[in-house]
Amino acid sequence: MTLGRDQFPDLDAGCLGLRPARLGLWRNHVFVSAADAGGGFDKWLADMPATIATHEPGQTRPHDPTRLVEVGVMTFRCRANWKIVTENFIDGYHLPLLHAVSLGDGDFTRQQWVPAGRHITFYRPLKPGMAANDRALPVIDGIPPNYGASYQWLFPNIAFFETATSWSTFHVIPVAADLSEIVVRLFAGPEALDHAPAPSPGPLPDHVITASGAFGRLFVDGSGGHALESEDVMREDIYACEAVQQGLAAGSTIGPLARWETPLAHFQRQVLDFAPLG
Ligand SMILES: [Fe+2]
Repeated sequence: MTLGRDQFPDLDAGCLGLRPARLGLWRNHVFVSAADAGGGFDKWLADMPATIATHEPGQTRPHDPTRLVEVGVMTFRCRANWKIVTENFIDGYHLPLLHAVSLGDGDFTRQQWVPAGRHITFYRPLKPGMAANDRALPVIDGIPPNYGASYQWLFPNIAFFETATSWSTFHVIPVAADLSEIVVRLFAGPEALDHAPAPSPGPLPDHVITASGAFGRLFVDGSGGHALESEDVMREDIYACEAVQQGLAAGSTIGPLARWETPLAHFQRQVLDFAPLG
């Protein structure tokens, strides 16, 4: 007997006005939709699964989250609309500028993005001769050390992000018109837990709401100082997003898009055209 049947023995679920929900499983995650329209999860996912591939010689398999373990969960606060945060995530133009130091090993001249249905898939390699320099996490089995960074961004607000040492989810949650939370769940090879850092107590910096898990605090920059001098990707992005939010609130106009900003146009078309797939 299930707990529900045990606790509600006389309940007729058909009388509760419950709406059917559709479920989908992909990359070790469960997706739920309460939209009325048909089409199903596979139609929404479109040809995204076909984009999962190897990117570098010596890579024996694509990232497989079922082989990894969760080693950190961080929730960040960003005083900007969720669409600004999303556009920042998928934008390729700011990468060598805003992250000139923090992502200085990236070869952004060879970045590639591909639309897949409403979604986007992306890869950019490291500069020639570079390799993962993340001393905290081991290189994932099957992934070469010179793997750059890839993501599958799923409309409207979640991405799976991949490096040589990690696989993480980047979930943008709208809180208010000018406020978002970003939940990052970090996964790594199981052997990472053999070298977990000592807990670091103390208050979290202002842009961090929670940081838990074996490596949660390690991937939070609490050094203080100006975000643009932090050499921390997340702090740099939050700073930029909040500046864009302030600019839009002040009535700033939007300029032309650079070639590496083309994913933003794809995203904006999805927002403007969105209707549940029928
Ligand atoms: Fe960024």
